[in-house]
Amino acid sequence: MGRYHLTERIAFGGMAEIFRGFTFDAEGFQRDVAVKKLLPQYAEDAAFVTMLTDEYKLVSHLHHPNIAEVYELAQVDGAVLVAMEYVDGKDLRSSLRSARRQELTLDFYDAAYVVASALDGLHHAHEASEAGTPLGIVHRDFSPSNILIAYDGRVKLIDFGIAKARLMRVQTRTGVIKGKVKYMSPEQAFGRTLDRRSDVFSAGSVLYELCAGQAPFKARTEVDLIYTVRDAAPRPCRELRADLPQELARIIAAAMSRDRRDRYPTALAFRDDLLRYLHRECPQYRRTRLARFMKTLWAEEIEADLRALEDYVLDLPPEPAAEYGHNLIAEALGPEAAYSHFSPIPTRVGGTQPLEGEATLPSAAPLKEAPTVVVRGKKPGSETR
Ligand SMILES: Nc1ncnc2c1ncn2[C@@H]1O[C@H](COP(=O)(O)OP(=O)(O)O)[C@@H](O)[C@H]1O
Ligand SMILES: [Mg+2]
Repeated sequence: MGRYHLTERIAFGGMAEIFRGFTFDAEGFQRDVAVKKLLPQYAEDAAFVTMLTDEYKLVSHLHHPNIAEVYELAQVDGAVLVAMEYVDGKDLRSSLRSARRQELTLDFYDAAYVVASALDGLHHAHEASEAGTPLGIVHRDFSPSNILIAYDGRVKLIDFGIAKARLMRVQTRTGVIKGKVKYMSPEQAFGRTLDRRSDVFSAGSVLYELCAGQAPFKARTEVDLIYTVRDAAPRPCRELRADLPQELARIIAAAMSRDRRDRYPTALAFRDDLLRYLHRECPQYRRTRLARFMKTLWAEEIEADLRALEDYVLDLPPEPAAEYGHNLIAEALGPEAAYSHFSPIPTRVGGTQPLEGEATLPSAAPLKEAPTVVVRGKKPGSETR
């Protein structure tokens, strides 16, 4: 599709399919990407695409180690896709499910680290501004399925801002909305205007779930769930986990105050409290600890991925894709945006002769000094695990 080769479907949601794929960057190196392809009913809805475009224009300003970078939002052959940084790992929701199955638990230190890292990315988004004007970004869907944990322990937030567009569209589908309501702030469940403190509450709910072993709000029906969230009176988590440190219980309660004026005013204040707890209780804490947990939890999947890589032969298309599509947020990304260097075949730069079977693309990358090596039949980065 366009500049991207899609290799595997990794998720299927209410709004889009998510694929793993790759492309080649300006140096001719293969670069892994995640491609989110809107389902046709959304891609064909011009009003929806316009709304999404506006959201992604804001999101394209976000560059932070705890946010999966969005490369482009493009319209290719009538389809709408979002290309973003591929995170080699799993989302927190699947990880919790898998942990339960294997009777493993993310301990309090790892839980604090995951949420503190995600809060770091969140705060960056809350603070984002353009030419001195705050963008007023609110995530609106800070939940375990939107927190990715790489096998090396890095934590990245996804699905920024687009919750607004989504919530306007999928409200009628049962099940979809229920999953989203679970981590909503009370003001969101009331349909009020939101600010960053709504995300602070949601992050508190996620931390609650990680610590207590169950989500703070549960109900049989969606309507009941909305009322439960509005009340914002979850069971104290120490009733569920007697061994929960007092300090963590206090932090969760501070984040989940029903009245937003009583919460942490910023994601940063919340994060700082968590890190203070972590550094005091476990001064030697390193990200590799979380990496170890992820590698144990997903050992089979990692093994299967590696096997797939062994058989992997780079399949270059006979012709370079003629149509890269139209990037809907091109002007927001600027002329130097990463995607503008991407091509579906490795394009060598630096004035050397193209390799056999290679073509030079019209959008070939700007010249860089060093001639580079094209890695074939192998995914760079796969050795780093
Ligand atoms: N950049 C990415 N890298 C790796 N996996 C991803 C990426 N983006 C999404 N996923 C996987 O796809 C799932 C759904 O993605 P998301 O963008 O949240 O779509 P949805 O609109 O369905 O919420 C995530 O929970 C995660 O498992
Ligand atoms: Mg999501």
